[in-house]
Amino acid sequence: MSESTAEALATLERHGRPADRCAMVIFGASGDLTKRKLLPSLYHLAQQRLLPNEFALVGCAIENMSEEEYRRQVRGDLAEFGGAAEPCKTCDWLLDRTYYFSGNFQDHNIYQQLKPVLEGIDAKHGTGGNYLYYLATAPALFGEVVQHLGAAGLAEQSGGHWRRVVIEKPFGHDLDSARTLNREIGEVLAENQIYRIDHYLGKETVQNILVFRFSNGIFEPVWNRRYIDHVQITVAETLGVEQRGGYYDHAGAARDMVPNHILQLVTLTAMEPPISFGADAVRDEQSKILHAIQPMAPEDVLTRAVRGQYGEGQAEGQPAPAYRTEPHVDPASQTETFVALKLSIDNWRWADVPFYIRTGKRMAKRVTEVAIQFRRAPFVLFRDTPVENLAPNLLVLHIQPDEGISLRFGAKVPGIAVDIGSVNMDFRYQDYFGNEPSTGYERLLYDCMTGDATLFQRADMVEAGWSVVQPTLDVWKALPPRHFPNYAAGSWGPKDADDLLARDKRAWRNP
Ligand code: BG6
Repeated sequence: MSESTAEALATLERHGRPADRCAMVIFGASGDLTKRKLLPSLYHLAQQRLLPNEFALVGCAIENMSEEEYRRQVRGDLAEFGGAAEPCKTCDWLLDRTYYFSGNFQDHNIYQQLKPVLEGIDAKHGTGGNYLYYLATAPALFGEVVQHLGAAGLAEQSGGHWRRVVIEKPFGHDLDSARTLNREIGEVLAENQIYRIDHYLGKETVQNILVFRFSNGIFEPVWNRRYIDHVQITVAETLGVEQRGGYYDHAGAARDMVPNHILQLVTLTAMEPPISFGADAVRDEQSKILHAIQPMAPEDVLTRAVRGQYGEGQAEGQPAPAYRTEPHVDPASQTETFVALKLSIDNWRWADVPFYIRTGKRMAKRVTEVAIQFRRAPFVLFRDTPVENLAPNLLVLHIQPDEGISLRFGAKVPGIAVDIGSVNMDFRYQDYFGNEPSTGYERLLYDCMTGDATLFQRADMVEAGWSVVQPTLDVWKALPPRHFPNYAAGSWGPKDADDLLARDKRAWRNP
């Protein structure tokens, strides 16, 4: 057996079979997402031999460019964002099956022209008429592109081939627009052809929440209101809005992060064990949690939702500007760059266990984590150690950047007196499993190509997610904020967020 065959077999054993033969068509091929995430992910998949030989990539964008120019651009992106050195056999392999197709996605004629191009690729590369369309376009075009694909017969699944469409976030701007988009794409595609992507589900540590909960016998018995006091989910970023002010100023933190990424973390943490790891079994349980989140009445929003916007401050030791002075942001912007919510999940497992969630830009530290705080020991045996002073057990699922899991418990400080100190038992991914280069999109792309929708949002989930935030959005729209900016760049967010927990005699864990 040659070395490369042995290597290929070892890789297959580790990761599974190569994806189905297919042509992947990226609409929005010259955008940032394609350069930074999609191309490097395809490169990593190819390196791991998870793309079949019968694979082709078709980049579509409005720019006029020759195929050669596009391939050069792709090669550059693989070097810059995928770490591909020179020479690179995998890059050559990928470029040999890379094509460029230029056109305006709003022009229905280009879809007619795309059809023979794809048929030619099928004939040359054996891609078998399986097409994965990736909509990396402006969100306003999602519905229209799908409609055009349908009208051109490019979404039809007859004859044993599949046609799938990946739709990026944001999926709608609010509940109504999400429903409209679901309806529009549903006129053309069956639900099992639609892959609504949320890149948080591509993160190993997010997927590990399920493994941690359901492959270990000792956690599930205490995973409920009897033992858990509350849950805190933090997604804090140190970056500001960078060059995305145009989008962000219309979206804001609540739309940008909550109905998607944060609710994924909530559902995975809170869901019941699914009856299998089949796509619908898992998503059914997630969906139940979304539906069990108590809708906020307008008056609840005033006490359970906090918004903030950063003013001037610090970012990694350097002065950082206020949000309102960032490029493409309205100088009088009322858009929130921070949101905190207190959610209640109305079911038997979680009644009276608040889930506090918060996310913000330009915060003190980049950290995403789920912190599960257990109830205190009911009774204290130790002299001079009132039970209020015992630190409760805390289980933290560190999602990023220091991926791992830690458990805090009390231990005796050595010495004659019985002093109790808090200690941590830490597991770090890196120590056990090393670090394979990954963008987080590899697994998701692979799953689209193999038809596994477990990590993708179903129509009902997207709508249920929007339903959770819609009351907050409505109240905030009706009552513009009065004290923006209300937190300094480089801090842990506005004081109101601390007050939200202080009212419940709790405090954020600011790691
Ligand atoms: C995106 C948001 O979906 O997620 C961004 O639009 C945010 O505003 C990003 O910065 C966070 O992703 P990650 O993987 O860096 O945590």
